[in-house]
Amino acid sequence: MDLYEYQAKELFATHGVTTQVGKVVNTPADAQKAAAEFNCAVVVKAQVKTGGRGKAGGVKLANNPSEALEKATNILGLDIKGHIVKKVLITPAEDIKEEYYVSFLLDRTNRTFLSMASVAGGMDIEEVAAKTPEKLAMIKIDPLTGVDSTKALEISVAAGIPQEVQKDVAVLIEKMWKLFVATDATLVEVNPLVRTNDDRIVALDGKVTLDENANFRHAENENFVDTANVDPLETAAKAKDLNYVKLEGSVGIIGNGAGLVMSTLDVVAYAGEKFGGVKPANFLDIGGGASAQVMADGLGIILSDPSVKSVFVNVFGGITACDAVANGIVQAIEILKSGSNYVQRPIVVRLDGNNAQEGLRILREAKPDNVEIVDTMDDAAARAAQLAAGVK
Ligand SMILES: Nc1ncnc2c1ncn2[C@@H]1O[C@H](COP(=O)(O)OP(=O)(O)OP(=O)(O)O)[C@@H](O)[C@H]1O
Ligand SMILES: [Mg+2]
Repeated sequence: MDLYEYQAKELFATHGVTTQVGKVVNTPADAQKAAAEFNCAVVVKAQVKTGGRGKAGGVKLANNPSEALEKATNILGLDIKGHIVKKVLITPAEDIKEEYYVSFLLDRTNRTFLSMASVAGGMDIEEVAAKTPEKLAMIKIDPLTGVDSTKALEISVAAGIPQEVQKDVAVLIEKMWKLFVATDATLVEVNPLVRTNDDRIVALDGKVTLDENANFRHAENENFVDTANVDPLETAAKAKDLNYVKLEGSVGIIGNGAGLVMSTLDVVAYAGEKFGGVKPANFLDIGGGASAQVMADGLGIILSDPSVKSVFVNVFGGITACDAVANGIVQAIEILKSGSNYVQRPIVVRLDGNNAQEGLRILREAKPDNVEIVDTMDDAAARAAQLAAGVK
């Protein structure tokens, strides 16, 4: 999970990484008010989960409250690399002497952690990395020993930080590492880490990515979830432990196993070309246990999406046998039918693998009236696309 800059800075503040105060607002009028409260020159910063905001015109200095109003008017609604700005952070302007770069990240290739640091931080860090890589120090971090004050100083020195502030920067680096470990982050990046004219070391920007696999031990991460930007069906699916992603099309998809579901998306999109560009409506992996309840939860989520016109259940029985899946489908339809807002839509089922014959027999016998059985994945995809296109 990527955090917004203002959320990253909240974490910085709680872990002793010196940063700035700031206020997040979503209207120009509130930006003006915040600037008036700070009573100094401020910076208006677009809050979007992508880099390069400054270069895209998303970071602007405002010398007084009315300038803050004007800058916020320009920045709110801006499209930065496909992200529409809905919030801006108002934060006091600092007198900057130098801009540094410091990060900790998970280095998957080398199966370790890595610190990258440079005295040449700021908005051109990508160019520094590409053209003068010697200015970007890369220091491996042993996960067992981590970063103590000695290691932090080693990073500070390797980055080329001027001697007068090497130790102060090292203190902040050590705290960044503590935060990285304590929050189960996969990235903690500060760019720029500034040295002010009066030689304070302050994190002016922050990027943090948290490992969602560790959410079970961080109840507080709930607060970072951006509910305004999350699809309500995705939220409902998450509450039921389903792996669901909403897409743009009209064929609801249920499969077992992420690989099978992804290839199902492909065959449906391919088959849909013949029907005026019919596309999958979602990704939904019900995993190994296709019990009646899981099937009902999955179908329930998919059928509550009004853009879904047909559903394709594509199951390859492995550990879960197809007869269990078939019973799951039959019972799921019963469960859903007894609910108040059930809208019947055609469901195309393809079962293969472990105990497929028995599964098909169960379905044929129970004959849920909106279920069609199709033998192969390609034919089933084509039928589901056809039904979604309104062809009977
Ligand atoms: N509070 C501040 N006071 C003065 N200058 C600032 C302040 N915040 C940011 N800046 C200036 O704006 C530049 C861009 O800001 P920032 O790094 O936060 O956004 P960014 O361009 O999105 O960065 P990135 O690409 O790393 O996400 C900084 O390098 C710095 O020069
Ligand atoms: Mg930055």
